[in-house]
Amino acid sequence: MSLKRLEIEQFRCLQRVEITLDPSYNLFYGANASGKTSLLEALFLLGRGRSFRTRRLDRLVRHGEAGFRIVGWTEAAGHQTVLGIGGSRRATEIRIGGQAAGSAAELAAHFPPQVIDPEVHKLLEEGPHRRRRFLDWGVFHVEHTFMDVWTRYHRALRQRNAALKPGSSTAAVHAWTPELLLTGTQLAEMRRGYLELLGPALREIGQQLLQDEVSLAYQTGWAAEESFESALGKSADRDRRYAVTHVGPHRADVVVRVGGQAAKDRVSRGQQKLLAAALTLAQLSVQEQRQPGRSALLLDDPAAELDVGNLERLLSVVRGLRVQLFVTALSADLPGLGTPGALFHVEHGQIRRHSADN
Ligand SMILES: Nc1ncnc2c1ncn2[C@@H]1O[C@H](COP(=O)(O)OP(=O)(O)OP(=O)(O)O)[C@@H](O)[C@H]1O
Ligand SMILES: [Mg+2]
Repeated sequence: MSLKRLEIEQFRCLQRVEITLDPSYNLFYGANASGKTSLLEALFLLGRGRSFRTRRLDRLVRHGEAGFRIVGWTEAAGHQTVLGIGGSRRATEIRIGGQAAGSAAELAAHFPPQVIDPEVHKLLEEGPHRRRRFLDWGVFHVEHTFMDVWTRYHRALRQRNAALKPGSSTAAVHAWTPELLLTGTQLAEMRRGYLELLGPALREIGQQLLQDEVSLAYQTGWAAEESFESALGKSADRDRRYAVTHVGPHRADVVVRVGGQAAKDRVSRGQQKLLAAALTLAQLSVQEQRQPGRSALLLDDPAAELDVGNLERLLSVVRGLRVQLFVTALSADLPGLGTPGALFHVEHGQIRRHSADN
């Protein structure tokens, strides 16, 4: 499957974009502030239902306009699907094949993009939230029941936390415990299973990018030697005192190791970018093995933070993945990925495709 065509209206600085895309490699080049990242952001939104830059919808609507619209045409085995996402300052609306869709997860079934941008290092640098989201995106692609279990776990967690508030009964806390334990244990197992699947791809790509052994250590969200049930039991008094559940998959994390040592705070910014890129590309590679010919990679300004050798290594791994590529750069000349199937110039929020013969 690939994205054949894209239309954007009033999104960030992009007033109106109508482009036909290449199934393999699309390169968008242009000066700073021309709208390159905005274009990738629109593509990400189309597949994931959220931005990779902000949670605030009002930032996405072009200044002075009421709302934006992004429409994409995907094609798989001769069958076309139209995906659309429209947004105002307050809400988004998702449509698939002309029908209103219930959730962003439905978009990802048609167009599941991954992104590597100059902020990708935050995956390692920031708190566990980003790493859990990374992990869960991977699990979502291999476990059909994941969304259901995740939703049930978080509902039970919300209810339990509400019941922990002063004035609520202990019985109300206990009422949610079986569901929390059941879905929490399932979530932890799914995440563990996914990390086992990811391990070999990460080792290989980590070796190529960092020339060292990259591995992940999973922290379930409770003490390693215990079951969730026993950890939850031990945490009961503390949970009551602070009116919050202290243990469980919502506190999980993944420690990234290079050469056996935790990487956080020990590696340079460039190495952080390479590591986070290795994680993303390993995930993409697993996704691609599972559902060949369906994935997309948004690669924003790959040269940022990387020296020539590391950029070459990154692009060589990217080249080896059989995914639809959307790449941005400051100039049309990006050695390392070969000749783009489609080359676009981005200027003042306008996007123009070069004709095949120039
Ligand atoms: N809601 C909005 N309405 C209009 N313009 C916006 C909006 N949000 C951001 N912009 C502007 O869009 C422009 C393009 O931003 P973008 O990040 O896409 O540029 P870029 O081509 O990726 O630049 P760089 O090469 O510096 O990364 C910026 O000048 C920014 O101020
Ligand atoms: Mg940019």
